[in-house]
Amino acid sequence: MASTRAAIKNQGTRMWSAANLAELVVWFVWLLHSEFIARFQRRRPVERRVPAWLGECDDDGRRPAAIVTGAGSGIGRAVAVQLARMGAGALVIACRTLAEASAVTDEIRAAAPEDVVLKPVGVDLRDPAQIVAMCEDIRVDKSLHVRLVVHCAGVFCASWRRTEWGEEETAAVNAVAGPRILRGLGVKGIRFVAVGSFTHRATSSARIRRWMAAVHTTNIRPPLTPAAAYSCSKTAVVAYAWGARRRWGGDGFTACVADPGLVDTAINREWPAALRGLYLAVARVTGLLTASSTGAAAVLRACFDEEATYVYGARGVQIQPSDTDLTAREEVFNHLEDLAGPQPPPRWWTGEH
Ligand SMILES: NC(=O)c1ccc[n+]([C@@H]2O[C@H](COP(=O)([O-])OP(=O)(O)OC[C@H]3O[C@@H](n4cnc5c(N)ncnc54)[C@H](OP(=O)(O)O)[C@@H]3O)[C@@H](O)[C@H]2O)c1
Repeated sequence: MASTRAAIKNQGTRMWSAANLAELVVWFVWLLHSEFIARFQRRRPVERRVPAWLGECDDDGRRPAAIVTGAGSGIGRAVAVQLARMGAGALVIACRTLAEASAVTDEIRAAAPEDVVLKPVGVDLRDPAQIVAMCEDIRVDKSLHVRLVVHCAGVFCASWRRTEWGEEETAAVNAVAGPRILRGLGVKGIRFVAVGSFTHRATSSARIRRWMAAVHTTNIRPPLTPAAAYSCSKTAVVAYAWGARRRWGGDGFTACVADPGLVDTAINREWPAALRGLYLAVARVTGLLTASSTGAAAVLRACFDEEATYVYGARGVQIQPSDTDLTAREEVFNHLEDLAGPQPPPRWWTGEH
């Protein structure tokens, strides 16, 4: 009990620290920056149906499938509901537990066309072995052909904590889980959409290098504030998508980062209540806080606009992510690839699911 109280106090101290608060202010400025740029871009048309590559069976009769992680709540849940309604051939609904995934599946079933195949999966994305098991389970299902991976799961950890598997948790879930899923499934013919964030703009090349050095070492003192650890994980998502496009673009692989803007979800559940309330109040007053369905619209546009590499907001505008230097981006990509695990057998790369 005493240790729980101490942990909560420690968490509060870190969230209220001057450095962390300064980072939140910087985030807000970058949010305004993104909104400003988006206002001058052309609004993209809204898709009502999924494109043929996600809706129609292939010559072998396999159904095209989309995997949505973080489908239990917030943006991920709204994306899963919409993909089913829009007629995706099959949907893998990935939540932390199978019970949660089954509950979401029942909810989607009630609202989706009858012929959409729904597959609930329980996977704790902190655990590399569970990701491997999920991918294996999907690959042996000969009726499915994965065409779209939407990595919506994410955490904001108010404390610097390690998973049982030795990785800092924000990094493991937000940045490494996506590459691990691709490693498990193979990349050929896949559209990979990772949910990023405007917060990545707060990170410099120097800081992302510090993050890489810190997330897998057992240093005791947290080297980054909670907000900085979160924004670094999102910078890593951008760098990974960039590197993956460069490496596997010739295999029919495409990758895009979807930046939903500021969305009213439980992502900041670990923040002290007063700080969360303050942040949401400012976001509401400025009119920048949107609903999960609006955040999901940005993700869906990133799924279907195959030329897009960074999509911001529900209008589906394409803006440039922030520029970390080229070498840093390459380092991050290689770092995440190393963490994703050993090279898979070649057959995984030939689309033989
Ligand atoms: N809300 C925003 O303003 C905002 C802005 C920019 C980007 N984003 C990003 O949008 C994505 C979706 O977040 P959200 O805002 O919709 O918040 P959310 O409702 O908290 O969704 C996050 C989801 O990730 C899941 N998740 C976390 N850790 C997991 C783990 N170890 N294994 C499996 N699933 C795990 C959560 O499951 P549990 O419920 O079981 O924990 C939850 O369903 C995140 O990547 C977030 O960083 C959000």
